[in-house]
Parts: sequence; C-alpha cells; structure tokens
Amino acid sequence: MARLVVVSNRVPDVADPSSPRAGGLAVGLADALVPGSLWFGWSGHQVPERSSEISEAESEGISYATIDLAEADYRAFYLGFSNSTLWPLFHMLPSFVNYDTGEYRAYQEVNEEYAAALVKLLHPDDLVWIHDYQLLGVAAALRRRGVTNRIGFYLHIPFPAPAIYELLPPGEELLVGLLAHDVIGFQTRRDQEHFLATLRCHGFSLQGESLHYRGRLVRTVVTPVGVDVDAFHGLAVRAVRRVEARRVVESLAGRALMISADRLDYTKGLPARFDSYGRFLSRFPNQRRRVSFLQVAAPSREEVDRYRDLRDELDNKAGAINGAFSDFDWVPLRYMTRAAGRPLLAGMFRISRIGLVTPLRDGMNLVAMEYVAAQNPDDPGVLILSKFAGAASILPEALLVNPYDIDGVAEAIDRALTMGLEERRERHAALLAQARRHDARAYCLGFTSALRQCEARAMAEEAIR
Ligand code: G6P
Repeated sequence: MARLVVVSNRVPDVADPSSPRAGGLAVGLADALVPGSLWFGWSGHQVPERSSEISEAESEGISYATIDLAEADYRAFYLGFSNSTLWPLFHMLPSFVNYDTGEYRAYQEVNEEYAAALVKLLHPDDLVWIHDYQLLGVAAALRRRGVTNRIGFYLHIPFPAPAIYELLPPGEELLVGLLAHDVIGFQTRRDQEHFLATLRCHGFSLQGESLHYRGRLVRTVVTPVGVDVDAFHGLAVRAVRRVEARRVVESLAGRALMISADRLDYTKGLPARFDSYGRFLSRFPNQRRRVSFLQVAAPSREEVDRYRDLRDELDNKAGAINGAFSDFDWVPLRYMTRAAGRPLLAGMFRISRIGLVTPLRDGMNLVAMEYVAAQNPDDPGVLILSKFAGAASILPEALLVNPYDIDGVAEAIDRALTMGLEERRERHAALLAQARRHDARAYCLGFTSALRQCEARAMAEEAIR
C-alpha cells in the first residue's frame, strides 16, 4: 500500500510524543499513521534566517521530518497571515481580521519552502495529506515542482460563507491554489457548501460536489474529525482515581461542577460565556451555591494583540463575577490560564455535571466529544453546546445554544442542573452513539479511502492510455 505522508504546521515533539504541541492531531491521526508513514512540518523552532535544512527523527516506526521557521516568517506567516487574517476570517469574525500584503507574500513563500523541502522526501506513489489553513498553498507549489502524487487537503476550521470569503484580498489566488488537490475535506456539510458556493461565485462550474480543473478531478468530501471514545473513556476512569481529581471533588463539598476547557482564543466565546454565567447567577439565585464553574484556558498565540486583549478582558470579567457573587466558603468561578494535561482533563470531565462548550464558531470541537466519552453512562453529565460548533452537526442531542444569547445560555445552565437522571441518560446514550460513529478511526478511514480511490482511478486511467 502507498506510503502516507502527513503535512501539518504543527508536528508532535518526537522527544515527547504526548506533548500538547500537535496532541489533538496526533490522536486523531493515530489510525492513519501506521509504521512507515512520514509526518512533515514545522519544528516549532525559530532561527534567525531561512534555512533549507530538514531534521529527521523516528518514533514507533513513524518518520518525522521538520524544518525551522525564520523569525521574520514566524511573525509574518504564522502570527500574521495565518493567525491574524485567515483564522478570524474563516471563523467568520471579519472585524478581527488584519490584512497585510507583505504578510501574505511571506505566507506564500513559506508554503513554497514547505513544498521545496517536501519534494526531497517524496516517493513517486506516496499519498500526501496536507492539513489546515496555514498550508493552503503547498499543493500548488508541489505541482509547480512537477509532483504528480495524489494530494489531499483537510480543513480543520470552518470554511466561511462566500460573502465573508470575498473580503479576503488574495481570495481568488488561494481558491485556485486549493484546486491543486485531488480531495478536499471539510468538517461539516455547511463548510463544504460554503466552499462550493464560493467556487460558483468565482465562475467555476461544478459537477455535484466535484469539479474538473486542469484535466484533474477535484473531489470534496465531508469527514468530521473525531476522538478515540474508548481510549478517552479509559483515561477518564483512571484519572478520577488520581489524587488531583479526588482533591477537586473534596473542594466541591457536594456542589455540581461545570467545566469548560479551551485554548485562550476569541473564537471560543469566553467573554460571552462568563457573561452568561454571571447572568445565570443573578437570575437563578437559588442555584447559586449549588454549582462551581471551572474554566481551563490554555494560553495561545500570545504575541497576537487580539489574544492579549482577550486575556485582559477575561481577567476583568472573572474578577467581577467572583467579586459580586463569592461567599466566605464558595467561589463561583475558578479560572485557570494554563494548560492541563489530557489525563487530568479527562478526569475533570467525568466528575463534571455540565460540560459547557460555547464557541462563537468552531470547525468541530473535540472537547465536546471528549466530554461525552468521559461520562459515566449510568449517571452522565449534560453537554451544553454552541450550535455554531461543527460538533453540533454530530451531537444534536446536546442542549444546543446560541453563544451570543446570554439569557439563553444562562437558562440552559439552569436546565442542565435540574435535568433528571432519565433524560440525562437518554441524551447521553444518543450522544455517545454518535461520538462512536464519528470517531477518529472513521475520520482517518473516510479521508484516506477517498484519497486512495483517486489513486486507483488515476492508475486505471494510466493503464487505458
Ligand atoms: C487549531 C488549528 C490547528 C492549530 C491549533 C493550535 O486547532 O486548527 O491547525 O495547530 O489550533 O494552534 P497553534 O497556533 O498553536 O498551532
């Protein structure tokens, strides 16, 4: 079988494969990354000048090849065009978008650098699977270098509606660049529809969910990312026995725990979530001392101003909530701005009566799936989920909320706290079945089989010629 080559901006730290650097992706791709596969991307290091040096390592039969980023590229490609232009625009938050032509140029140059390094590592029949918005131009750069391999692309974040995509000055060029792939994968049907509608707006004619471009068929598919449900469940069961989890339970003194865990990112809707919790505390005074809300927020992209502003805003809001509602023996909000390890989080999810996942917009949101996987099916907690997370398309039995509706979320918290055991069990059983149907294995198989089919078809066409 053809070798799989995964390309992503973040690559796991081989010295510490459980590091959170590309933790989510590494877990999601575990089923695809069989021994013999190659994973290529950024080392996570910055160097003063661009360099074409590739570092190689191996772990459990998988090869890892990485390049460093020049400091100027880190600023322009990573902090700039990737995370100050594409990230907010694709999450449909146009007022957060900054655009700078020089940063876009650096983005394209870094994508070229990826391609230049990758051609040195590719074998003729490799399947290349490129991930996410940082690398939209790598396939086109590979094609320019004569690469004829099957190349797939998967977008982990939402694809915006055409009216938003249109705001992107180099939108047309990036769109055409994407057509260098054979398969383009999305989290949800809505993302796929947005992409197809954007192509139509740019004058491309489609055949259903595919199109012919420069003699090649470009297919689009919907393959939602997922988690390994049993593995996460096992982690949660083991974690609740740990001393840290027992200490948390003790500190609750019989109160219900509500948990949120996110990267500290404005797309995650934390300010509105804090407002909703404040509204809940003021509108439902009889619930006040019955719940404790734990927000775990892992710092992220801190050199970008928007992220720094967010941190200040949340410090203020957290202080205001605790100042207004705390009692001598009760703190309503525990707000932690540091990353927690996966095992500990799994345990926290299991002991939490409510999982509160309210992004303003999210590609999928695996925390929602992990919360479901961690529960005790006999006495499960309740998932409150933003209808603007991709996960809402997989988990409709959650309490779906509009994160902008502060009263609506406050009411959902009250409803979750008062929900009876039978309804909790029924909802959880349905959610668990869905999380299993759309797990990490289904994701990997769904995408790689679409990519392999292209290969079979290309070989058949070759044979006919
Ligand atoms: C999201 C993106 C990933 C990204 C991750 C962490 O999940 O979809 O592509 O790697 O955030 O962000 P960072 O900027 O630290 O890589």
